[in-house]
Amino acid sequence: MKGNAKILTVLNSLLADELTVINQYMVHSEMCKNWGYGKLHLAIRKQAMDEMHHAEWLIERIIFFDGKPTVSKLNTIKIGKTVSEIIQNDGDDELEVVHDYNDAIKIAHEVFDQGTVDLFTKILKMEEGHVDWAEIQRAQIEQMGMENYLVNQTESPAS
Ligand SMILES: [Fe+2]
Ligand SMILES: [Fe+2]
Repeated sequence: MKGNAKILTVLNSLLADELTVINQYMVHSEMCKNWGYGKLHLAIRKQAMDEMHHAEWLIERIIFFDGKPTVSKLNTIKIGKTVSEIIQNDGDDELEVVHDYNDAIKIAHEVFDQGTVDLFTKILKMEEGHVDWAEIQRAQIEQMGMENYLVNQTESPAS
């Protein structure tokens, strides 16, 4: 099905967002594993996998619209040097992504593309979950202090 040019541009722009955070989260997840923060490693790894699903769904939609998915474009990747920076950078990106999906939903409504509205809404709900996770981590760090927070993250993965 031939897609709307504006929607194809939006889909590719969101794809760049997703591909950027996949890379950032994979690095962050492995840094946490290397430091022995098993819980944090698994939580960030799970987010990276959510983002892979999002990238897959966007690519699927672009191809459905006879468009060409741009998989070679990344935005700035912000690798944190500490757990605090990791959580800060990832949380900031999630907030931006929530904003981008809300914008995208507005554009999809304008061109009467309900199928794309539905896809964006499904992804948006997951991104809101990611924002929530980052906010919980920040609140815990503030309330219990970084050292106590980190002790709580050292639990090693079951596998
Ligand atoms: Fe995503
Ligand atoms: Fe996300």
